[in-house]
Amino acid sequence: MISQELNDSLTRVGRGSDAGEVLRRYWQPAALLDELEGPRPVVPVRLLGEDLVLFRNASGELGLIGRHCPHRGADMCFGRLEDNGLRCPFHGWHFDRSGQCVEQPGEPEDSRMHEQIKAVSYPVQEKNGIIWAYLGPGEPPEFPAFDCFRAPDSHVFAFKGLWRCNWLQAMEVGIDPAHASFLHRFLQDEDPAEAYGKQFRDTAADTEIPMTQLLREYPRPEILAEDAPHGLRITALRHLEDGRTHVRITNQIFPGAICIPMSREMTITQWHVPIDDENCYWYAMFTSFDNPVDKQLMREQRLKEHSLPDYAPLKGAHNNYGFDPEEQAKETYTGMGLDINVHDQWAVESMGAIQDRTQEHLGKTDAAIIRYRRQLRAAITAVKAGREEELPMWCEENIASIAGPLSNDTIAKDGDWLGSAKAGDQKRRSDCPWDADI
Ligand code: FES
Ligand SMILES: [Fe+2]
Repeated sequence: MISQELNDSLTRVGRGSDAGEVLRRYWQPAALLDELEGPRPVVPVRLLGEDLVLFRNASGELGLIGRHCPHRGADMCFGRLEDNGLRCPFHGWHFDRSGQCVEQPGEPEDSRMHEQIKAVSYPVQEKNGIIWAYLGPGEPPEFPAFDCFRAPDSHVFAFKGLWRCNWLQAMEVGIDPAHASFLHRFLQDEDPAEAYGKQFRDTAADTEIPMTQLLREYPRPEILAEDAPHGLRITALRHLEDGRTHVRITNQIFPGAICIPMSREMTITQWHVPIDDENCYWYAMFTSFDNPVDKQLMREQRLKEHSLPDYAPLKGAHNNYGFDPEEQAKETYTGMGLDINVHDQWAVESMGAIQDRTQEHLGKTDAAIIRYRRQLRAAITAVKAGREEELPMWCEENIASIAGPLSNDTIAKDGDWLGSAKAGDQKRRSDCPWDADI
């Protein structure tokens, strides 16, 4: 357990808050590219407690500016998308994508007041289905050479979902390899041929054992958490009866993301992005090392579970997450259906809007969570002291060399689990149709 003061320091995200200032030193997902499809590409964005509006102007360029008009505060989401910018419908002030006011049609004709008026604005960039924003000071850092950024658009599918809780508890479920044996336990195994686009539905590595069976029968993984250039490499070892070891490597990507294997073909890189202190979005990039991603199928699967425009899950506290005691007795550990996203959602939302960590009791299986919090504390200290160069993935020469990360399931026959994971990764990369060499 930790003190209330430390819990506040690690969780709060507003401008000037401890963790909020660390998160602002990194690119954060602001919207899906899908959200700007359609005749009027203007969407509200609430990110790190700041209310913004994202739009695409007539030249196809993106702008992310403050939601409230600098004149008298009207909502720019209702702005007129015209003259290559956004015009406030209240008095017609017009802003370009940098937030600069370029026209005030009701002011005297010779007025130059507009030159002094600039809305809050932040740099944005598109990458493989997600629009990223940088809300920090100075120049934004480069993007690392992660697989989800290097893969061609055809091999990456992006989606998002709303969770009504603080970002940190959402991220911490992703660096907790032990929970998969319980929270995501299926009492019966599905045909792996039906597994496309779903987590934990493939067979385990080179075996015929369904992943669901392996997780169920080996609930006490040995967990190792080691510092890595991108954050943490987390290894879960399940020692099977015949001397073989199932090796599952997942990652924490500092500060708010994870990278985990989904199937033999795909990995998931998932950001947990604060909307404000008590709400967050997960943004997932599903990256295929084999065939192009069937985006239509994956989108349909997920749209069935979410409502637009908020990407709010259809199941939630309002309907008990679909809890069915009969199902809990016979089919799943949770009784909340087969979609593992709902299980994770229940786990993190049911802790309360901001988990009260003064009451928690961490065990051996929480090794990665403990190590991650240490990294976040070090980053908070570095930012406060103006030593950004100490932050993970901050130095320029460093960033371009940060690739991967290795994220897979393999079977080690001789106890050399890292060798087995690396060999599996190497094989996947050399067979990959796009350049995945590292
Ligand atoms: S409030 Fe926007 S122009 Fe007046
Ligand atoms: Fe999970």
